[in-house]
Amino acid sequence: MLKDKVAIVTGAASGIGKGIAEAYVAAGAKVIIADYNLEGAESVAEELNGQFEDSAIAFKVDVSQQDQVEAMIDEAVNKFGGLDILINNAGVMDGMEPVGEISNERWQRIYQVNVDGVMYAMRKAIEVMGEKGGSIINVASVGGIRGGAAGAAYVSSKHAVVGLSKNTAYMYAKENIRCNVIAPGGVETGIGATMTDMSEFGYGRMSMVAASATRQGQPEEIASLAVYLGSDGASFVNGTVINVDGGWTAG
Ligand SMILES: NC(=O)c1ccc[n+]([C@@H]2O[C@H](COP(=O)([O-])OP(=O)(O)OC[C@H]3O[C@@H](n4cnc5c(N)ncnc54)[C@H](O)[C@@H]3O)[C@@H](O)[C@H]2O)c1
Repeated sequence: MLKDKVAIVTGAASGIGKGIAEAYVAAGAKVIIADYNLEGAESVAEELNGQFEDSAIAFKVDVSQQDQVEAMIDEAVNKFGGLDILINNAGVMDGMEPVGEISNERWQRIYQVNVDGVMYAMRKAIEVMGEKGGSIINVASVGGIRGGAAGAAYVSSKHAVVGLSKNTAYMYAKENIRCNVIAPGGVETGIGATMTDMSEFGYGRMSMVAASATRQGQPEEIASLAVYLGSDGASFVNGTVINVDGGWTAG
């Protein structure tokens, strides 16, 4: 489905990003495994190259840093000859704080990673994709369409990703660049362990929303949609937000 396509997956050292990288390589793509956890990225790349020769390259990036993000895109061009698919998956959670409790530091860090990082990568990818076009897939969250799925910083940052994606989809539609959003529900990954200094009040409110979730998903259940959205079979799918949440938001 993705034979000879070149893709970048950010946050690919673990969780959903790792699942997407595995599915991409299995579908015939060459993938830059981008993460600030270089050791983790190298281990994923090694595993994938063991299965499919020369299919993966590990790259260290902090997506909140413009120069590093641009170097990541250059890496795809220099090592694999171009860029067909960009998957902005790296993201960080908040501590469920409502706006009355959020600190400037946490707000800024979440926006730098979840929003600025996505914009830096998209801006450079558009330039590199050029006339050939390409597919951009942004991993938002159910928190990008609902208000109570996390704290104020995370939820608003993921709403921003949805808006940026729709704008890009429309603006570049005639340049043959598609941009879509995957909005996962709860997925079994390590992201929960990264949450610190939780707001008791915010967590309590969020728990009422979480209680209606049907079950947790697995990274491969998100990855299969990413394969489709990156493929030519999705050529008329542009500017859409697809919930992958086992029916949670339908309830
Ligand atoms: N797991 C869930 O329940 C869930 C639900 C909805 C949305 N999401 C979104 O899915 C994406 C992936 O989350 P996950 O659950 O796989 O998390 P995870 O913590 O397992 O993986 C995230 C990866 O991103 C990397 N990363 C974090 N900050 C980075 C940065 N600044 N630069 C480069 N890499 C960075 C981490 O090292 C890690 O490998 C995130 O955008 C998250 O918001 C997750």
